[in-house]
Amino acid sequence: MRALVLAGGAGTRLRPITSTSAKQLVPVANKPILFYGLEQIRDAGVTEVGIIVGDTAADIEAAVGDGSALGISVTYLRQEAPLGLAHAVLTAADFLGDEDFVMFLGDNLIEGGIGDLVASFERDRPAAQLLLKQVPDPERFGVAVLADDGTIERLVEKPADPPSDLALVGVYLFTSAIVDAARRISPSARGELEITDAIQQLLDDGQTVRASRVEGWWLDTGKKDELLDANRIVLGTVTQRIDGDVDQDSTVTGAVVVEAGAVVTGSVLRGPAVIGADARIVDSYVGPFTSIAEGCVVTRSEVEFSVLMQGCVLTDVPRIEASLLGREVRVSRGARRPAAHRLLLGDHSDVELAEGS
Ligand code: G1P
Repeated sequence: MRALVLAGGAGTRLRPITSTSAKQLVPVANKPILFYGLEQIRDAGVTEVGIIVGDTAADIEAAVGDGSALGISVTYLRQEAPLGLAHAVLTAADFLGDEDFVMFLGDNLIEGGIGDLVASFERDRPAAQLLLKQVPDPERFGVAVLADDGTIERLVEKPADPPSDLALVGVYLFTSAIVDAARRISPSARGELEITDAIQQLLDDGQTVRASRVEGWWLDTGKKDELLDANRIVLGTVTQRIDGDVDQDSTVTGAVVVEAGAVVTGSVLRGPAVIGADARIVDSYVGPFTSIAEGCVVTRSEVEFSVLMQGCVLTDVPRIEASLLGREVRVSRGARRPAAHRLLLGDHSDVELAEGS
C-alpha cells in the first residue's frame, strides 16, 4: 500500500497568504496542515508516500524534505498544471504501479486518523472506499447519492442543485483500477479531470465502491474562517505544557503550550493557545483559540481567536480577533499625526477596521 498526497493546488481562497506560500503549509496549532495528514498516513502503517506538487514545490520540499523526520519516505511528483485530482492520479501512475493506495488531500484534516479505514480496505479490497460527511453546503463538494440499502448510487461534483448533503471527504482508498478509470473520463465544466467522475466511472463499470461516514470532525481548510475553525478545534485537543519562561507577573489559564525559548512577561494567557519557540509576549493578552508561531513579538497588545504565522510583530494593538496573519506581518499603533490608519497591504489582503477606530 502506498500513499498519494496532493499538495499542488493554488489556494486562491486563502490569498494573500497563499500568494507567497503553499496553502498546505499554513499552520494549525503551529503545525503545517499537511503534516497532520502525513502523520496519520504513517500511523496507519503506510510509509511510501508520493506528494503531488505544483508551483509551490520548493516550499513543500523545504518543509517535508525526504520525509525521514516524519518517519516516511517521500517521492515528489510534479503536476505541470492543476488539472484536477484524477489528473494527479494519472501524474502518479508510474509511482503507484499496480499497488493499492490511499489518496489524501493536503488541505484536509480529519479527526482520529485513518488506521481503521486502511485496515478495512485491505481486508475487502473494494475498487474504491470513500469517506462521507453530512455538510450544510454540499454544493461546494463532491456529493454522494445513496440507495436505500446504503450503497452508492451515483456521485456528482459540486452540483448547483445538490441531490444529497453527503460530501466526499478528501481521503480515498483505491486499487489501481482508478488509474484506468481516470484515463477514460473527460474534463469537467471547470476544465479538470475530477476524481468524482473517475469513481463514477468505476461504478459504471460495475466495480465495488464502498463508503463510510466520518464520525468525528472533518475540516477542509480552504478559507480563512475554516482555517480559524480548524485551529480552534485542534487547539481543543492540547494540554498545558510550559517549556519557555513565564514570569511571576503573568497568568496562564487552561491549556496553553509555551514552547522552549519563548518568553512571557506581564501577560495573561488564556487557553487553549500555543506560543511558538522564541516568541515574546510582553504586557499582552493572548486569548482562547490563538496560535502564535515561532519568533513572533507581541507587545502591549491583545489577540484572540487568531493565527499568527512566523515572525509577526504586534505593538500597542488594542485588540485583534478572527485574524490570520502571514509571515513577518507587522501591526502597530502610533501617535503620529494625522491620526489615521497607514496600510501596506499585498494583493488580495483583507482588512476590517473596528467601528469608531
Ligand atoms: C475536492 C474534490 C471534492 C471533495 C473535496 C474535499 O474539491 O473535488 O469532490 O469533496 O476536494 O475537500 P476541490 O478541493 O478540488 O474544490
